[in-house]
Amino acid sequence: MSGVQDVTASPGQNAIIMVFGLDDPAQARERVLDLCGRLPALVRSELNRFPDSLAGMVVAFGARAWAGLLPGWPVPGELSVFEPIQGERHLAPSTPGDLFFHVRSARMDVCQELAAHVSRALSGVAESLDETHGFRYFDSRAIIGFVDGTENPSAEEAQGFATIAPDPAVTGKADFSGGSYVFIQKYLHDLKAWEELPVEEQEKAIGRRKFDDLELDGPAKPANAHNAVTNIRDQDGGELKIVRANIAFANPSRGEYGTYFLGYAGKFSTTRRMLQNMFLGDPPGNTDRLLDFSRAVSGTLFFAPSAGYLELLASEA
Ligand code: HEM
Repeated sequence: MSGVQDVTASPGQNAIIMVFGLDDPAQARERVLDLCGRLPALVRSELNRFPDSLAGMVVAFGARAWAGLLPGWPVPGELSVFEPIQGERHLAPSTPGDLFFHVRSARMDVCQELAAHVSRALSGVAESLDETHGFRYFDSRAIIGFVDGTENPSAEEAQGFATIAPDPAVTGKADFSGGSYVFIQKYLHDLKAWEELPVEEQEKAIGRRKFDDLELDGPAKPANAHNAVTNIRDQDGGELKIVRANIAFANPSRGEYGTYFLGYAGKFSTTRRMLQNMFLGDPPGNTDRLLDFSRAVSGTLFFAPSAGYLELLASEA
């Protein structure tokens, strides 16, 4: 699937990620809501012209923007400004962001065209806070060389984990079902230190083998492996998952190599628990080994309404 607000679509493709700040949300209201109304047609046009492009776009709103653009409207229950997580050795910072656009496609030219339409539509009312161009790296690997996304929920399960479940008792503007909490974090890797690590040690940091992506078994997987600390369960032993849409990026001439983490969840509390395990450790101190080579330089929470809710927003324009 692809299109607008399909948060589980085409993982591992190229992407342009844009974060904007709004000078004055009340003043930007007309322009932003009008753009929301036009997004489905913009993406449809790309899919019509380039059926294999798997073009898709997700727009999402930060807490300040939601309140400012939609005064008097109900606010999604878990939408607030991300509280930073400060551990003894690692920090997950909180950085500003009002609007988020996740543009993805198998074709970078299609990503570019969609990103340009959005940027033109917001010119004068929104300031670019970050723009990152990510690429599919070989067989969907993170820039540190490991396949990324293997344990994402299956296509059948993804919607259930990535979006808010319907509740028949809630209707109208308060019905956020099908919407998703998007948490984004830009990481820079110390690639030199990482590459100096023997492959076996890298594998222990991730919890999987590098070449063939096999999971390390039992005692071979350390407690501080990335896939050990982020594997969490509820009280009844059920696995708690999110849908990750991470993308690799690089600016080699500047020595910058990174992972843009994008996590879509029906419950932000799930993402937050994973972050706490990584940055603080559970038990405390058992922090993620991957963080010894990766520094989070941003952290922002947004809410991506469902395609239906986006229409409702646009009808206010
Ligand atoms: C430096 C940034 C990151 C990199 C390079 C990275 C990379 C990876 C890789 C290579 C895997 C193993 C393959 C897979 O199952 O996808 C993985 C698994 C996973 N990651 Fe990350 N990740 C990063 C950040 C995060 C963050 C911030 C979270 C959560 C907030 C997270 C959550 C997960 C989860 C839930 C799994 C699957 C664990 C399981 O096996 O059950 N990752 N990641």
